[in-house]
Formats: sequence, structure tokens, C-alpha cells
Amino acid sequence: MLANTDNNKTTANNVWDAKTQTFHGGQEHRFINNFVEDFSVTTNYLGTPCKALEAAKEAISDIHHYPAANQEPAKSCLAEFLWGSGYREHHGRLLMGNGASELIDLVVRKALLSCEQRNIKKPTWKGSPWNVQVGNVEGREYQRSAETNGFEILDPANPEKADMICIVNPCNPTGDYFSVEPLKKWIRDNVKSNGCVIVDESMQPWHSADFRNDSLISEHAYTREMFEKEGVSVHVMHSWTKIWSCTGLRVGSVICPTAQHCEALRKIQVPWSVNGPALKFVETVVNDDEYLQKTWSNTTRLRAWLIEQLKSLGHLDWEYHGKAFLSWVWLDMKNEDLAEKAIDLARAAGVPVRSGKPGYQCNSFVRVAVRRESEVQVLIDAWKSLE
Ligand SMILES: Cc1ncc(COP(=O)(O)O)c(C=O)c1O
Repeated sequence: MLANTDNNKTTANNVWDAKTQTFHGGQEHRFINNFVEDFSVTTNYLGTPCKALEAAKEAISDIHHYPAANQEPAKSCLAEFLWGSGYREHHGRLLMGNGASELIDLVVRKALLSCEQRNIKKPTWKGSPWNVQVGNVEGREYQRSAETNGFEILDPANPEKADMICIVNPCNPTGDYFSVEPLKKWIRDNVKSNGCVIVDESMQPWHSADFRNDSLISEHAYTREMFEKEGVSVHVMHSWTKIWSCTGLRVGSVICPTAQHCEALRKIQVPWSVNGPALKFVETVVNDDEYLQKTWSNTTRLRAWLIEQLKSLGHLDWEYHGKAFLSWVWLDMKNEDLAEKAIDLARAAGVPVRSGKPGYQCNSFVRVAVRRESEVQVLIDAWKSLE
């Protein structure tokens, strides 16, 4: 049966199956005839890094071969990007996946298995403390995975410790951020002994050229100690599809507390889940220093400029949330109808933004990605008629 007959046409409204999937930004561009730029996803404003894109394209000519079963040499390249020349010591704790989404699901399933083995009848799960009360990765991927796998969901304000806790740091969409010490305290205060933790640092590399030093990436002794003394397994998750703007390619990784944890995940992972072009992309992109230098020197400036332009629209009650280094602004328009109108106007002008309503239930909020000045101008012009 043809998918695109008039009665059966895919639109921005029915592209998600609400019964089985959770809403996420980044789909509308397909349905907008006058599309200019996607402000609805928090990818890098620079677009896909050229050299890595070329490498992925070249790798297409090799698709008659299976990709490397051990994800090499891409995995070693990524390990070296994370840990520098001492990477070999930690390499066994790193696993790549088909986007972070695959790995989130693997870690949650593994955590559930561990609860079953310990005879915990109704394991509990808790998300981060910030005001999107849902474990708050875009599309609620974490809570969705925990719910599907049978965890009881605790309210983030509930002081009870949980068998599994997940935090997206910096939080997408609110833009809140814990530096390392408060993060460790939150973990200690919220996870049970022998529990499982995921810290999602997908948006953290925007922090600065020094991002590794404010990250759990570098906290080897802490991770080891948590496991050896408390039995707590701390996993550090990365979606690489944001900072390197390759959401269509699907690249993620997880750093496990030990190599044995990694092996246990590999056991339940679908073989070859990271395809050949994606592996080649990673191998190349980790050496693109210029791209990251540009990211760090320009994103903060462009974000400040975006806020300045939004302020120039004259809505004095609007509030702008999120750390200055981030690739988006979480904008509270303080009025649901106005936010809805803003979303429609942006779509009509070919510059879709992410509504705070589906998934986050923040009805007066919109999330606006950091983009180049000329593209922002299109959005600002579209919003001039907002009142
Ligand atoms: C913070 C965060 N983590 C993970 C994901 C999932 O990413 P991926 O595209 O790698 O599956 C997203 C996607 O929106 C995200 O924003």
C-alpha cells in the first residue's frame, strides 16, 4: 500500500505514533515548503563538520561489508578524544551505540535485570530535580524507557532514594547545570546502595575547551569508589548527534563504571548497531579541533545576540532560561496562547521552534536553538506581529 495517498498522508502532526512513541523536535522541516532553518533541535549551529561528513560519504562505498564488530578504530579515537593519551586505561569501559537512545535503553534494561536478581519486586526510578519533572531528556527518553521496563516512577521532589536515577546535565530543555561537586551530592542523596545512575552529558561539551574538567568523564576515582564501596554503577551517557550535528547518522556512547559492566551491555546489544559511515564519521570528527574551537568561541556570543534580538521585540515579561554556553534558549513567554501563536508564526516562516507543550507540559515555553544571525532575523521578523 502506498504511504502517501491523500487519506494516508504523513504530516508534522501524525509523524509520531502517539500510542507507542514520544514526541521529539526535529520532524517539522520535512513538511515545510519554505523551510529556512530548524530552531527546534539543539544541534550545533555550525551544521555537520565537513571533513567528517565527507568521510561518512566515502564510507558509503563500503556498505557491501559489515561494519567493524568491535567498533574500531572509531571507539579508540573517541576514547582518545575523551581521555587524551592515557585513554587505553579506560577504553574497556566505553561502548558506542546507535545514538544515545539505544544505550539508554540498554542501561535501563540491565538495571532492571540487576533489580530482579536482587529480588526487588517494584524497582523505583527518579529523574532530575529541575522543573521539567520527567527525567527530562528531549522526548522523555529516560522516563519512557524506565516506564516501559516496569520501574515505578518517583516524583523528583520525593526524598526517597531510588534504585535507578537519571539526570541530563546540562538539562535539556531547562538549561540548568550542576558542576561536578553538586552533581556528586545529588547522586549520593538520591540513589540506593547497589543502584544504577545515568548522567547524560550530551550538552556538556559546549561548556568550554575545558569541558572535560567539569565533567564525570574525568572522575575515574569517584566512579570506581561508588562502585566498590556502595555498589552504585555510575554511567556517563553522550549523544554525539548534537555537538557534531549528525542526528540522522545516530552516534552515542556510554562510559560504564567497569569493563565488566560494558561487557554485560554488549551482551544485550544488537550486533553492528553503529553502521560503517557513522564509525568513519567518528574516526574523523574527533580530530576536527577547528570545528570545536569555533563552537566554543561563537555559541555563547550568538546565544547572547539571540536573547538581545528576542528582547528587542518588547515583551518585558518574557524570561530567558539556561546557561550562557548552551546551544538553545528556554524561553518562557508567560502566556500559553502567545506561545502557541509564536510556534505557528515560526513554522509559517520556515523556522520551526520547539513547543514546550508536548512532552514537557510547559505550555507557555518555547525552546529556540542558537543559530546564525541571518537565520535568527527570519524568526525575529516572524515574531514582530506577536502581541
Ligand atoms: C540530552 C539528550 N540525550 C540523549 C538524546 C538522544 O540522542 P540520540 O540522537 O543520540 O539518540 C537526546 C536527543 O534529543 C538529548 O537531547
